[in-house]
Amino acid sequence: MRFFIDTANVDEIRKAAKMGFICGVTTNPSLIAKEGRDFKEVIKEITQIVDGPISGEVISPDAAGMIAEAHDIVKIHKNMVVKVPMTAAGLEAVHELSKEGIKTNVTLVFSATQALLAARSGATYVSPFLGRLDDISTDGIALIEDIVQIFDIAGIETQIIAASIRHPMHILECAKAGADIATVPFKVLMQMIDNPLTKSGLERFQKDWDNAFHNS
Ligand code: E4P
Repeated sequence: MRFFIDTANVDEIRKAAKMGFICGVTTNPSLIAKEGRDFKEVIKEITQIVDGPISGEVISPDAAGMIAEAHDIVKIHKNMVVKVPMTAAGLEAVHELSKEGIKTNVTLVFSATQALLAARSGATYVSPFLGRLDDISTDGIALIEDIVQIFDIAGIETQIIAASIRHPMHILECAKAGADIATVPFKVLMQMIDNPLTKSGLERFQKDWDNAFHNS
């Protein structure tokens, strides 16, 4: 399983990129709005930091509007992926965009049948939102497992981006389930780095070293 970062905050993206474990970025309208910056300006800056797929989302409700927005988004940079909602209009847009060779990420996927339809419409990626399912007492990981199984059986090449990740256990379960990618908030990436035994072990090494070599 590979890692994308799920944020539009360029400072977070820069910090994570320096550690080398992220190979893509996902944004959504809420994440862009949180930054209070112009969409194209933020996206352009992100493309200068990470050399991998960068998802920018359309906001039009109709297919023609989505397609027009998609054409603008892909002009920003060659790595742009157009994020499209899982609606009838969204699938129409995905079908058209895939014929044009434009990569798409179908978002707001909450069932395996939605994922299957999105894949058959030509989506490059599907983004099942597991955290939001867990929030309503529905098993988000089971959704990832179902999609992995269905795509394997059918030989579907659409990649599964586990999204709406809330904590490191989600990462473990998604990796075991066989998700291709997890798109992870910066905070969760940092939680994955930390371990109290690493911290106390490092303190002990430092203390022993100082006692042996700096106390004479
Ligand atoms: C995915 O692409 C979305 O941006 C994201 O994972 C949504 O997560 P949330 O449920 O934390 O808003």
